[in-house]
Amino acid sequence: MKILFQSVLIILFVSLSAQSYNQNEPKVEDYRNLSMKFMGELKSILQKEIKQNGIVNAVSVCSDTAQTLTQQFAKEHNIYIKRVSAKNRNPINIPNDYESSAIQKLEKLKSEGNLKKETEFFEIVNSNGIKTVNYIKPIVTEGICLSCHGSESTISDDVKQILSNKYPEDKAVGYSIGDLRGIISISKEIK
Ligand code: HEC
Repeated sequence: MKILFQSVLIILFVSLSAQSYNQNEPKVEDYRNLSMKFMGELKSILQKEIKQNGIVNAVSVCSDTAQTLTQQFAKEHNIYIKRVSAKNRNPINIPNDYESSAIQKLEKLKSEGNLKKETEFFEIVNSNGIKTVNYIKPIVTEGICLSCHGSESTISDDVKQILSNKYPEDKAVGYSIGDLRGIISISKEIK
């Protein structure tokens, strides 16, 4: 009887600790949801602005709004979050080494025809006792993006003018629908 009681206790203890362990383990769904929420917010601001005030005004609003929103989102969720691109417009959005290699992997997937809607990278890196979660989601070019990231013919002269004034080093043009425009990169240190 005593042995039975003890083993019940042990099982209870093991299952409780397994549960709390699982709860602390970072979940890819949480990071996927954050990236979707962030992109959703950004896109709805962009769409609303284009609809209400036209594409030219959207450029100036978007250039500052995107960064403010990114900073707010990072603070609110206690994460590092950025939109970066190998061909960045805003000098702030240059990828770091980790992000560059993720972009290269995604470009490779794309060239092989394997870049899917669900494609994402999720990795827990352990370096010098510090654990970091890294989540990467591709940002793919859509029709609505072309009036600011497309070719000579899809970007109006007004928009070209503003872009070249504000971003003299702009590399973020010449995209077509379906191209990899960049990535959302989220990181978080975990205990
Ligand atoms: C009205 C013009 C406009 C439209 C439309 C637009 N963008 Fe941008 N985009 C900008 C500007 C301006 C920046 C630079 C400011 C920033 O966001 O940091 C930018 C920056 C970005 C960046 C950050 C990397 C970089 O190049 O600096 C990504 C990623 C991006 N845009 C993706 C998109 C996608 C995807 C769409 C379509 C869904 C889109 N953009 C539509 C103006 C636009």
